Amino acid sequence: TQSTVRVISHLDRDYLRQALEHDVTAGLTSSPKWLPPKWFYDAAGSELFSRITRLPEYYPTRRELTILRSRAADVAAVSGADTLVELGSGTSEKTVLLLDALAEAGTLRGYTPVDVDAVTLESAAHRLAGRYPGLAVRAVCADFERHLALLPRNGRRMVAFLGGTIGNLEPGARAVFLKELRATLRAGDTFLLGADLVKDRGRLVAAYDDAAGVTAEFNRNVLRVINRELDADFEPEAFEHVALYDERHDWIEMRLRASREMRVRVGGLGLAVSFGAGEEMRTEISAKFRPEGLRAELAAAGFEVRRHYTDPSEDFALVLAAA
Ligand code: AVJ
Repeated sequence: TQSTVRVISHLDRDYLRQALEHDVTAGLTSSPKWLPPKWFYDAAGSELFSRITRLPEYYPTRRELTILRSRAADVAAVSGADTLVELGSGTSEKTVLLLDALAEAGTLRGYTPVDVDAVTLESAAHRLAGRYPGLAVRAVCADFERHLALLPRNGRRMVAFLGGTIGNLEPGARAVFLKELRATLRAGDTFLLGADLVKDRGRLVAAYDDAAGVTAEFNRNVLRVINRELDADFEPEAFEHVALYDERHDWIEMRLRASREMRVRVGGLGLAVSFGAGEEMRTEISAKFRPEGLRAELAAAGFEVRRHYTDPSEDFALVLAAA
């Protein structure tokens, strides 16, 4: 039987452009300044992130893979899912482990990758359609914070949100996201969440400040994206990468620090902004969780935790929750 691939887009160029303009205006005119992590991921940024996942210091990807390798069969059995919906699917590397397990369990029918990057999305959709005969691939180009209600509702779904990306959301936005996701699910649907756990701060900081400087380049990439898309004149090399662990909030914070006084023009916005020497701009938070906290947040959103998996060193958690 032939697989089918449908691509649905909720993000036309206008939408992305307006969202970027909105975020950059809001962030650069705030005090302190900030930029949202969503805009790291153009083609170069996605490639840099993929290099990050192979760095010795960056343990989350490897830990999550370890958990998936040993637990995917249990996830398939407990979820009983026939359709995998993957939020922020990227290159769908870990997806294969879940799809193999669902195929092995004999339930697999559909796969719905959801990503903001149309190019990555389409290539992953076709690659996976080729691998599983009869698979109905419904790829959705969308922003998981904005378009949850528009995702296809075919089948008995398991929504996977892997990699610890939930940590990019602040607690308030996280609660809203979880509630909205819960509201789109029906009885029998499940949610598989990957979350990085609180650990020794030295290891946490090293994971976001690697010796080879790949994370620093990834961080500065957001300035290149803004230069290109909004005709700005940031000098990325004039900003230093900063990664610190905020113990009060249990999150890693990445910042860009202006190495000297600067004036930056954002032509596309008709905006000029000044940076003082040493001024820091936040570009990402990556929250780290405690198992109890994770359970409580899921429960508050109306989920029932069915399984809590972790790797032997308890660095990372995968939680399977029922709607
Ligand atoms: C893709 C959001 C899970 O927060 O660890 C990696 C992004 N930032 N290094 C993370 C990231 C710096 C990553 N997520």
